[in-house]
Amino acid sequence: MLETTHVVDSGGLVKETATEFSVDAHVYTDAATFDVEMRRVFHHSWVYVAHESEIPNPGDYRTSAVGRTPVIVTRAQDGDIHVLVNTCRHRGAMVCREERGNAQFFRCPYHGWTYRNDGRLALVPDVARYPADWVEQIGGLIAAPRVSSLYGMIFARFSDDGEDLESYLGAMKQYVDLWFSHSPSRSLRVLPPYRALYPGNWKLQVENSTDGHHARFVHESAIRTMEHFGTRNRQAGWAGGTHGFDYGHGILERPRDDIPPEVQPQFDELRALLTETYGQEETDRIFVRRQITLFPNFHLMEFKFRLVQPITVDQSIIYEFPVQLDGVPDHVNEGALRRVMKEISISSGSAVSGFVNADDLEVFARVQTGLTGWPDQRVQFARGLEHEQEAPSGEWIGEGTDELPQRSFYREWRRLMYGQGHGQGPLL
Ligand code: FES
Repeated sequence: MLETTHVVDSGGLVKETATEFSVDAHVYTDAATFDVEMRRVFHHSWVYVAHESEIPNPGDYRTSAVGRTPVIVTRAQDGDIHVLVNTCRHRGAMVCREERGNAQFFRCPYHGWTYRNDGRLALVPDVARYPADWVEQIGGLIAAPRVSSLYGMIFARFSDDGEDLESYLGAMKQYVDLWFSHSPSRSLRVLPPYRALYPGNWKLQVENSTDGHHARFVHESAIRTMEHFGTRNRQAGWAGGTHGFDYGHGILERPRDDIPPEVQPQFDELRALLTETYGQEETDRIFVRRQITLFPNFHLMEFKFRLVQPITVDQSIIYEFPVQLDGVPDHVNEGALRRVMKEISISSGSAVSGFVNADDLEVFARVQTGLTGWPDQRVQFARGLEHEQEAPSGEWIGEGTDELPQRSFYREWRRLMYGQGHGQGPLL
């Protein structure tokens, strides 16, 4: 367990006392803070970059990012996976602009330096014009020093110190296991994403993904519409709980009692299949709707991955990747996909095709405008603060509308920005 969690912070940007938990507006609006968090937060965490099912064959690649650092995730000819900084070693051009593809070599468009798909430099045009041994000294594309996979999820870490992926997940790991257990073989395939750009800080969507308090207000009209069409029962869906973890992870948990009637048979079939595989008791633990934050910017949602990509301090992109479970009939996957893609439940509604997430994007823009216009504001996260319970597993438990996952996030954010190992002190 981390020693630095729950320590009262006197630095000011993230303030915690026995009765207050608040975050300074500059954390969302200040460009200098953003620049620093792109390094201190993203380069000192395990950051999701791709899923192995997206690069199944030698030569497959996909471009991604660690904070603002562009990367190419490749499967080299020998099958090994590499996470390479997508910045040419000559004069810094992005080497690959495609989102995905298959290539043995990447040729920089500026002066033709060419790299193998494991990052090694293969060719420098007119190499004789450079000083002797100079090219060897420069080397190939920079590789993330640490890459680790779990259930096909590829994580990269740019700091070569610190905990391994399993320690980083800690008590959260059991919930990741449960989430992937929706597949009898605990494996899945990731489909191409849909995406939405919003005019707000990246942390607004990260906070929101485990915010159980906002839906009844922000999505009120959406819920009324669902009730009108019989796909939502207002009495259902506010039960559940929140969890907070070391290293900033969090969960919003709800009973899965809002399955739209049109896909109920597919969900019944999935549940029966899981009962056959894992038994009744374990299936009861698995078959819960969990929205999981893996710090800093990745979420396991209802049959989809959600990745929040920072662009600038006030611009971000949400990528949502529907998933298809291995080991279940196609029509069950179709039912899950319908739940994710269509406006048929509060947990569905994609960033671009559904009206639920459109509500959120509107609110993010309002928060960004409000905080920019009133920089004295402190953003409040005290809901449930006095009722947090520490469980023997090393996690903290709260009620379904508590701001507990958000507090876990900011405790870790504060630790990385100000804590041990950095020693830089306050940034503003
Ligand atoms: Fe890439 Fe010159 S910047 S070859």
